[in-house]
Amino acid sequence: MEPHSARVVGTETGFRYLPDRLDEAAQRRLLAEVERIGEAAPFDRFVMPGTGRPLSIDMTNAGPLGWVSDRSGYRYSPAHLRTGLPWPPIPDLLLALWRELTDYPAPPECCLINLYQGVGAKLGMHRDQDEEAFDAPILSVSLGDAAMFRLGGRRRGDPARTFVVQSGTVMVFAGEARTFYHGVDRILPGTSALIPGGGRINLTLRRVTRPR
Ligand code: SIN
Ligand code: FE2
Repeated sequence: MEPHSARVVGTETGFRYLPDRLDEAAQRRLLAEVERIGEAAPFDRFVMPGTGRPLSIDMTNAGPLGWVSDRSGYRYSPAHLRTGLPWPPIPDLLLALWRELTDYPAPPECCLINLYQGVGAKLGMHRDQDEEAFDAPILSVSLGDAAMFRLGGRRRGDPARTFVVQSGTVMVFAGEARTFYHGVDRILPGTSALIPGGGRINLTLRRVTRPR
């Protein structure tokens, strides 16, 4: 385990780990934005395609396209599955972070928001592969309780590293690391006072379509 290491993976892979990238004031502002988004677009407990088994975390989205999952598959949807309303806009703070940390020529289209609460909350190893724009990086922002994050490689069985991501940590998955396997093993309860009642929020910014 290499907590707080800026070199958890060689930079040649395109992975960047930026602990404390958001200070406490910025974390609070972002949390307030997430609360507003959650009121307009309520969090859902999606089920896995095929089996219909529920995930252990709740999700919602901001932006023109939201990542959703139901029995028929994973996909991007322009509207909330239950309300039918468009997702709220991506907060300016995050769009600014995207411009600062990526040189991608177009803005992100999806901000997927994951909410981890309770002991069983986790996310199995997977690749983000429902997008068309694989040349665009994925930017990840963490709020609230720390998590044990697992980062593997291109293939499912590749060696993986596990490290702590804390509130305010930003990670960039660019280049080769864009499609690396990753997951969240567990949350470390009581490690942050940011979210009332505890828990962890992760926001990922994704470009979904190829810019024309
Ligand atoms: C994700 O892979 O969608 C999110 C990972 C995280 O919660 O840090
Ligand atoms: Fe992911």
